Amino acid sequence: MSEPTMRQEGHLDFTGRRAIVTGGANGIGAAIAARLKSSGAAVVVLDLEAALPELRTVTVDLADAQAVISAAGDALNLLGGVDVLVNCAGISKSDRLIELDFTSYQRILAINLHAPVLLMREICRHMSQTGYGRVVNVTSIHARLSEPGALAYDVSKAGLEAATRTAAIELATAGVLVNAVAPGFVATRMAVVDGQDELESEWFHTNYVDNSRLPLQRAASPAEIAETVAWLASESNSYIAGQVLTVDGGLSARF
Ligand SMILES: NC(=O)c1ccc[n+]([C@@H]2O[C@H](COP(=O)([O-])OP(=O)(O)OC[C@H]3O[C@@H](n4cnc5c(N)ncnc54)[C@H](O)[C@@H]3O)[C@@H](O)[C@H]2O)c1
Repeated sequence: MSEPTMRQEGHLDFTGRRAIVTGGANGIGAAIAARLKSSGAAVVVLDLEAALPELRTVTVDLADAQAVISAAGDALNLLGGVDVLVNCAGISKSDRLIELDFTSYQRILAINLHAPVLLMREICRHMSQTGYGRVVNVTSIHARLSEPGALAYDVSKAGLEAATRTAAIELATAGVLVNAVAPGFVATRMAVVDGQDELESEWFHTNYVDNSRLPLQRAASPAEIAETVAWLASESNSYIAGQVLTVDGGLSARF
């Protein structure tokens, strides 16, 4: 099934807003950073790799808790304050339970769960002082649905959805709305496993496209995920808190 032609971006105004986007050098994070920037936000990316030159990057390994805390400070200094935090950086690595490599398990949790929690702590302090903030955590349908070999990833994403709810109820009265977006299949390099793009594989077509287990019969583009994240991160969202918005082409709606 072919991709829809890209519609015009909806009108979300981020003029004067300052945003921190983790994982903004590639994939979904890059699309989010570009979407916020094109709508007027000042954006700083936290990533291992450099983002596009028009975006400022604080280079950081999010697996290192101390480095995360100092990167948060650097980003705040660069922006002179913060209104939006998007925790998008993440990794995945397949590992079955009885062969679980605990070092790899801890690294996945450090990047996918502990870094977002630490960043929420550091950044939401500032947001709650100003009385305005929007936080969007990028999770996955893996927070609720599993497959063999995905234990560390599943635990990290389920944990981040739990953290999203707790942060949301603690911060709502301070004007800080915390939510999550859970994508399904998205066409990024994360879909390339051992050199093979799973979205081009027979496995994907047979199991998800041909039998319509994935109702939209295609993966999302990063821009489609970014659109939802941007809306939740905007002033247009004035009453959603502690929720997970699933953007998966209907995959998890099916029995
Ligand atoms: N692609 C999918 O199918 C899919 C589906 C559901 C959820 N997600 C989630 O979306 C998010 C983005 O994934 P993506 O597909 O764009 O992946 P990606 O690999 O294209 O981008 C991930 C970004 O995170 C950065 N990153 C990774 N480890 C880091 C570290 N230790 N320190 C700093 N930065 C680091 C990378 O450099 C990269 O820029 C992830 O949280 C992922 O779990 C992706």
